[in-house]
Amino acid sequence: LATGTTSIGGVAAGAAASALLLDDRRQSSAPAGDLVAGLGTATVAVPLPHQAGISVPARQQGHGTVAAFDLVDGATREQLKALMKAWTAVIADLTAGRAPSAATGTGTGTGTDDAIALGSGPCSLTVTVGFGPSLFGKAGLDPAARPPQLAPLPVFGTEQLDAARSDGDLGVVLAADDALVVFHALRTLTRIADGTAKPRWTMSGFTRAPGSSPDPASTGRNLMGQLDGTNNPTPAQPDFDRKVFVPGDADTVWMRGGSYLVFRRIRMLLDSWEAQSTAEQEKVIGRRKDSGAPLHGGTEHTKVNLAAQNPDGTLAIRGDAHIRLAAPETNGGAAMLRRGMSYNDGLTGDGKPDAGLLFLAWQADPASGFIPVQQRLTKNMDALNRFTKHETSALFAMVPAATGGGYLGQALLE
Ligand code: HEM
Repeated sequence: LATGTTSIGGVAAGAAASALLLDDRRQSSAPAGDLVAGLGTATVAVPLPHQAGISVPARQQGHGTVAAFDLVDGATREQLKALMKAWTAVIADLTAGRAPSAATGTGTGTGTDDAIALGSGPCSLTVTVGFGPSLFGKAGLDPAARPPQLAPLPVFGTEQLDAARSDGDLGVVLAADDALVVFHALRTLTRIADGTAKPRWTMSGFTRAPGSSPDPASTGRNLMGQLDGTNNPTPAQPDFDRKVFVPGDADTVWMRGGSYLVFRRIRMLLDSWEAQSTAEQEKVIGRRKDSGAPLHGGTEHTKVNLAAQNPDGTLAIRGDAHIRLAAPETNGGAAMLRRGMSYNDGLTGDGKPDAGLLFLAWQADPASGFIPVQQRLTKNMDALNRFTKHETSALFAMVPAATGGGYLGQALLE
């Protein structure tokens, strides 16, 4: 990134300028381009009142990290406020391609920056921030002020969660088209947090690189080889905001325009999966592997007919197929925006791939999104369960964007 007060966009650094820039960037559109040319200098507009990184950019960036932080013992509300102010300022800097002006942590480097990404542009960096259930009761926050939507997730059957790599007081999702840029942003946030919050866990993943597919608007594949994301809500649909974002008249005023994030690290049991025939793999999901079309026919985006039958009278989409059990019509309309990433963390102790899906689901309320769907998937024995293992879990209230020179989470903390 540029050092000092210069920047790729030619905008002076500084917290005040950063706040203005957030508003200014609303006017400019996110890069439509999936062309490799211009990739480094591309920035993502903040789609006020929401933070970037939820539904914008439409094309997910190639690299991402999800990180959780815990407040240090005795951290005060003033410290938390100061941290959120500093994070807001550096996020504005970093996403615009400027050196982080408020990087006043303990790290050493070039000026206030550690120079990790010196020479790289913002690469469509987005940094999305939220609060976990455990934050309430700390830093002077009243436990009773925790909204019902942020109650800890229920225990689901079949999950085997690692508590040390689950949950957290603060949650951050970082994404960019360059892994170094993501790492730099996370290190910067971590240095700034020193003395107030410490990292609890981080997990990194990837989606396909821009330019890797001739059709950038097409659905990407996960590590099981499936087109993943076909039946996601899309912003063009009239009920998209209602499903994904907390409404403007919500009781929880500080979350208006925010979104609840459910995060799960879901390991794929790839050896078992790959031992299945393609036909069986398709029955597990309910869609063809090559085209993503529902098993009753058509193309990827053909409307799914869960009642469709094969010539022999059996269901075209099996009773335990993932898309049957996860569909809104099976779950009283429950819906979420799934924007996951693949991860590959080497091998487990038994030599199996430690790889799978960093599952991120965004919704206006987990009670009408992830929770009933995951309950259905476990209770009705989703066929996919035999090939997956939920290893970690977290829930965060991802706050609305900072506006007018304010800071992230201000409406809760002030
Ligand atoms: C659909 C894969 C876990 C919710 C799909 C589809 C695939 C898929 C291939 C069909 C294409 C699409 O519409 O995106 C996976 C894999 C998982 C996983 C590999 C784990 C490793 C989950 C979990 C949930 C979930 C944990 C929520 C609790 C959904 C929903 C749909 C879907 C809501 C759309 C159903 C529809 O309306 O047709 N998933 N999924 N998935 N999945 Fe998953």
